[in-house]
Amino acid sequence: MPYNKAEIPSKYFQNFFNSLPSLNGKTIAITGTTSGTGFVAAKACLKLGARVLLLNRPSSRSQKSLEVLKTENSNTEVLPVDCDLQSFNSVRSAAKEIYELCPNGLDVICNNAGVMALKDVPTEDGFDIQMQTNHLSHFLLTKLIFDLLKKAASTRGESRIVNHSSIARKQVKNLEASYLMKNGGNLGGDGSSMFFGGARWVRYGQTKLANAAFTACLHNKLISKNSRIKALVAHPGLSETELQSTTVRYGGMGKWFTGQLMKIGQSAEDGALGILNCIASPNVESGKFFGPGMGGMFTAIKGPALGYSLEPSYDNPKTRDLLWNLSCEAIGEEFII
Ligand SMILES: NC(=O)c1ccc[n+]([C@@H]2O[C@H](COP(=O)([O-])OP(=O)(O)OC[C@H]3O[C@@H](n4cnc5c(N)ncnc54)[C@H](OP(=O)(O)O)[C@@H]3O)[C@@H](O)[C@H]2O)c1
Repeated sequence: MPYNKAEIPSKYFQNFFNSLPSLNGKTIAITGTTSGTGFVAAKACLKLGARVLLLNRPSSRSQKSLEVLKTENSNTEVLPVDCDLQSFNSVRSAAKEIYELCPNGLDVICNNAGVMALKDVPTEDGFDIQMQTNHLSHFLLTKLIFDLLKKAASTRGESRIVNHSSIARKQVKNLEASYLMKNGGNLGGDGSSMFFGGARWVRYGQTKLANAAFTACLHNKLISKNSRIKALVAHPGLSETELQSTTVRYGGMGKWFTGQLMKIGQSAEDGALGILNCIASPNVESGKFFGPGMGGMFTAIKGPALGYSLEPSYDNPKTRDLLWNLSCEAIGEEFII
C-alpha cells in the first residue's frame, strides 16, 4: 500500500521568499527537481527571474514537472538536462550539455537530488546506489562544470556550490572509507531499522555526512585560493516530500511509522528554505550550513533556516582528506581547485 502524504501547511516560506532579491541575469542548475525541495527551489528561482537548468533522470515525473514549471513561468528560461546520478556516463553527458547551455558561466550548482534507505545494490559503476546518487555523482558533476563556476565568479563577482545534507548525517559517527569505494551490494544488507543501526540507514547517513564533508573540503580549498566561489550546505529538517513515499515503497520505512513521524514534520516549501538561502540570499558567506537547527533527530526538525558553522565531526583534516581522495578515486579523475 502506498504512503499517502499529509497536507502540512507552510509557515515560513512566503515571507522568506518575499525577502529574496531578483535573480535576473543568473543561471542556476539544480539536480532533482521533479518533486520536493528541488521542485520548490526551481520554482522560486524562476519566479525571481533566473534561467534554471533542471537536471533530472528522464521519466514521466521529470516531463510533468518541466511542463508545470514552463507553464507557470512563460517569461523565464527553463532548460531540462538529462542527468541520471546513478550513472557516471550520464553525468558526463549532462556536463557537456551544461557547457553548451552556459557560455557565460554558471552562477549556482545546487546538488539537491537524493534517495534514502534503498536496498544494498550497486550502480552500473559498482558503487552503493545511495552514495553514488547522493554524493559521488554530485562530486563528479561539480568537478566537470567547475570552469563554468569560475567564469561566473570572475564576470559577476561570485558563484555558489550548494549541497543538500540531512539530520541523518548525525546517525553515523565518522565517514568510513568502505562506503565511498566500489563495494556496492556488499555494505551490510537491507536492515531497515532507522534507530537501531539498520544498514540501509547507515548507508544513507554516510551519504549525508559525505555531503557536509564535501562542502567542508570545497570551502577550505576555495578560501586557500582566495576564490570567489562559495561552498554552502543545507538540510531541510523533516520535510514532507516524495522521499517518504519512495522510501516506504522500497521497504526502507513502514507506512504506519512514516505517517506518525511526518506529524511532526514541515512542508516541502519550508524544507526548501535551507537550499534557497544558500542559492539566493545576498551576502551569504562561504562555509555556512543553513537549516532549522543543527541538532539530531527531534531537535532540528522544523523552523526557519538559519546559518550555522560547519561542524568539527567532518570539517577536520582527516575526514576532508578521506572524502576528497576517495571521491577522486571513485570518479577516476583529479579535482584540482
Ligand atoms: N524530505 C526530507 O525530510 C529530507 C530530510 C533530509 C534530507 N533530505 C534531502 O533533501 C534532498 C531532496 O529530497 P526531497 O526530500 O525533496 O525528496 P524527493 O521529493 O524524493 O526529491 C528527490 C529528487 O531527487 C531525484 N533523484 C533521485 N534519484 C535520482 C537520480 N538517479 N538521478 C537524478 N535525480 C534523482 C528525484 O527524481 P526522480 O523523480 O527521478 O526520482 C527527485 O527529483 C535529498 O538530497 C534528501 O536527502 C530530505
